[in-house]
Order: sequence, then structure tokens, then C-alpha cells
Amino acid sequence: MSDTGNVQRAGDTIPTWHLERPCPVMHGSLVSLCPLFRECIPLYMEWVNDVECALLIGAVPPFKREDEEAWYNRYRASRGNKGFTIVEKATSMPVGVATLDNILFNHRSATLGLILRKGSRRKGYGREAVALLVDYAFNVLNLNRLEGHVFDFNGATSAIAASLGFRIVGTLRQSVFAGGRYHDAMAYDLLAEEYRKGRTPSSVCDLVAQHQLRARRSAPRETVRTTGKGRARGLT
Ligand SMILES: CC(C)(COP(=O)(O)OP(=O)(O)OC[C@H]1O[C@@H](n2cnc3c(N)ncnc32)[C@H](O)[C@@H]1OP(=O)(O)O)[C@@H](O)C(=O)NCCC(=O)NCCS
Repeated sequence: MSDTGNVQRAGDTIPTWHLERPCPVMHGSLVSLCPLFRECIPLYMEWVNDVECALLIGAVPPFKREDEEAWYNRYRASRGNKGFTIVEKATSMPVGVATLDNILFNHRSATLGLILRKGSRRKGYGREAVALLVDYAFNVLNLNRLEGHVFDFNGATSAIAASLGFRIVGTLRQSVFAGGRYHDAMAYDLLAEEYRKGRTPSSVCDLVAQHQLRARRSAPRETVRTTGKGRARGLT
């Protein structure tokens, strides 16, 4: 990581450093999903401590350095949680976190989580990060069902869920207290079969298709030779 210090702006630190080796796992056109980095713990901590963000994800700040380290270590150690740093491709700056939680390999299901730093919102990064996470869940982990709970005042996440084919499967009435009153949460889910029928782009499937194409091009071609009266088949 190249570290030249951070600039503070109204509750949002603009990292002036970038990740020298972001090690992308999943590639989008705007963002990549990269591993969680120990060096980024102060940023993760800042994002989740912001009260607006905490309200939207149902977290209860304050979170201290120890809390965030414990969170980071859980994602490193547990098979049931996968976490990624969302990295802006143009700058290699870490701009958010995307997670799969409660991964149950017997049921092949998981819950999605997402945070973007304030200054990086409304640029399409959230939607692309979720699309990459869904691609990873269905096409790398071979999960069958994804779910997410979205509070009724979270328009951005509802828009992302709907645009990627998630459907509302229930309402958790008055399940969250925010801004002085109770709110409902919508339970969204998406099944692998629905995802595959939809038109959500998949970088994993694109990669496999590219390999198939290359394999086909370099495979020995079958030719038909005519020998005298009969015909013989051969490989070139
Ligand atoms: C949710 C979040 C990740 C969205 O990321 P984003 O990069 O701003 O979203 P995008 O730019 O990809 O926009 C996705 C859609 O949401 C819409 N949108 C974005 N911000 C919105 C807002 N504040 N209110 C309503 N709609 C919004 C966009 O218009 C877009 O809709 P479209 O696909 O119909 O055009 C981001 O707002 C965030 O980090 N919020 C705090 C944490 C959070 O809510 N996490 C999810 C918990 S379930």
C-alpha cells in the first residue's frame, strides 16, 4: 500500500493512498472485489461507525479497533463468512466492503452485505459490486440461494436488489427502530436457477467461455480425406 496520509471531509476519509497490489478476485468494469486487507481496518472501522451507514445496515456503533480486528479475523478464519474489499478500478482505492455471511454449505445459502464509503456512492459501484458478489456466490461457491434484508427506507439497496432479479419474499414487520420509530424490513432472495435464466452478466462464465473458445480453436481439427473410392476420417 502506498501511504501518503488521509484527508478528512465531513465524516468521510478520502484515502489518498491506493492499494499497490489489490489482488482482484472478481473483475468488473468499475470496481473489483479484492481480499480484505489488514491495512484497511481503519477504513472499514470508519465506514461502519458512520451513524447513517450503521442505521442502513442495522449496526450499533461505536466500533473500536478491537471490534473491527475481531470482525476481520472472523472473515479470515471462518468458512461461513467471505469478505471482500471493493476497490475502485480507476484509482485502486478501497471504497467499500462486500460480504457473504451465514454461508451454509449443506443448504448452499448465504446472506449478502454491502457498504460503500459516502464519497463513492451513486456511481454504479454498489450495483456492480453486488453483481460480482452474486456471480462469485453462484458460479464459484456453487451456492443455490442468496438473501438480503433491506430496511424500507433504503432505496438504493432495494433498487440494486430489484435490478439484479432478487424478489421480495416477505416483510419483517417493525423489525428495525430508526429515526424515532419502527420500520419494516423486506426479505429479498434469489435462486441460482432464476439467476441463470436472467441476464445478469457473469465474469466467471465469460472467463470459462473464453477458455472453451481457446480450447476449441487449438483442438486438433477433424478432417475428411477422400482416398480412392472410400472416405477416411483423420485428425490434423
Ligand atoms: C447501498 C449502497 C451500497 C448503494 O451503492 P451505490 O453505489 O450508491 O448504488 P448505485 O450507484 O450502484 O445505484 C444503484 C441504484 O440505486 C439507486 N440509488 C442510489 N442511491 C440511492 C438513494 N440514496 N436513494 C434511492 N435510490 C438510490 C440508483 O439510482 C440506482 O438505481 P437504478 O439501478 O435504478 O439506476 C450505498 O448506498 C451504501 O453503502 N449505503 C450504506 C450501506 C447500505 O445501505 N448497505 C446495504 C445494507 S442492506
